[in-house]
Amino acid sequence: MSSASPRTVTVSTTDSRYDILIGGGLIGSASTWSGLPTTHHGVIVSNPVVDMLHGEALAVAIAPLHRHVSRVLLPDGEAFKTWESLNLVFDHLLARGCDRKTVLYALGGGVVGDMTGFAAACYMRGVPFVQVPTTLLAQVDSSVGGKTAINHPLGKNMIGAFYQPLRVVCDLDTLGTLPARELSAGLAEVIKYGPIADMAFLDWIEARLPALRALDRDALAHAVQRSCEIKAEVVGKDERESGLRAILNFGHTFGHAIEAGLGYGAWLHGEAVGCGLVLGAALSAELGLVPPALVERLERVVQAAGLPVRAPVMAGSRWLELMRVDKKAEAGEIRFVVIDPPGRAALRPAPDALVLRVIQRYTATA
Ligand code: NAD
Ligand code: GLY
Repeated sequence: MSSASPRTVTVSTTDSRYDILIGGGLIGSASTWSGLPTTHHGVIVSNPVVDMLHGEALAVAIAPLHRHVSRVLLPDGEAFKTWESLNLVFDHLLARGCDRKTVLYALGGGVVGDMTGFAAACYMRGVPFVQVPTTLLAQVDSSVGGKTAINHPLGKNMIGAFYQPLRVVCDLDTLGTLPARELSAGLAEVIKYGPIADMAFLDWIEARLPALRALDRDALAHAVQRSCEIKAEVVGKDERESGLRAILNFGHTFGHAIEAGLGYGAWLHGEAVGCGLVLGAALSAELGLVPPALVERLERVVQAAGLPVRAPVMAGSRWLELMRVDKKAEAGEIRFVVIDPPGRAALRPAPDALVLRVIQRYTATA
């Protein structure tokens, strides 16, 4: 794909302002990298799969910015979003004498992005980093907004920091090699933005799902742009999630419980979120906040995106135990993002019995 002028969305927080560039051919275009710091070391953090596809192109592209460009590869997958992987980055940086002006480049999906951001936040108490997301999920969500983290066996993304990147480079060409299952996983986070922020976007997604799944360039560009606009607006108002930002976690309390309960990696993050969106909508309907027709609609959209709409079998007590580890819980009370009304969202507690009833209704039967 050739490079045209990228679409740009700007994220503004109290302490930072940066652009998200969206378009084709961005990695290989010199203008993508202009204005970034020229320093001694530039370090690409990736995994073997993505490095093989795009590592060399990125290394060539950033070579004019750094005297030394090196690469550190982390094991691939959610199961490796751990201290051990993070230490591989620190080992690499220290062994090469990387100073505090070193720029890290996160090349990969959300796992690489979250870990690189956390490594950047910690190394020498903070070095700059650039996000180069290569999954749809990372382009529409995880690379934007500065949430960085690793998992703990007792809970997902429990150890981390808020740390904003210098720039986000969403090169749509990279999505061409993404397996269909991963593309669907990314669509979960795209769909999420509709019911919480923009019902017209949900209409658009519903109509354009076949085009998105077929990697139609214009459809992808719009999906990434609109998702980033919504996320940028929310993050601009509430970077550290003192309230509003929690709405971006619609479906995630259920989704994180599925991921942790089944073991990280059994379901993809986006698959767990997809199912979580249906459960979250069903809970909202159960609380009388949205009509049942919206739940049915969301279920259809999630299914049409190629995502699961039925939860895995798990004991009710296990669900509750896992959901209590959620970062939105307060004093052991689980708080859920609910749709209230369609196109907006709020944070609410809900009685255990009601939550379990919803889960049971949407649990897969053998
Ligand atoms: P991922 O990073 O595991 O990537 C998915 C798979 O696709 C991996 O196997 C990867 O190697 C492969 N891959 C990546 N790019 C590719 C490409 N262009 N071609 C072929 N294969 C490619 O998963 P993900 O869905 O991108 O991210 C999920 C993670 O993001 C979770 O850990 C989740 O917690 C996190 N997340 C963070 C935020 C945030 O705000 N920080 C938001 C949402 C999700
Ligand atoms: N993905 C949720 C957030 O960034 O807040």
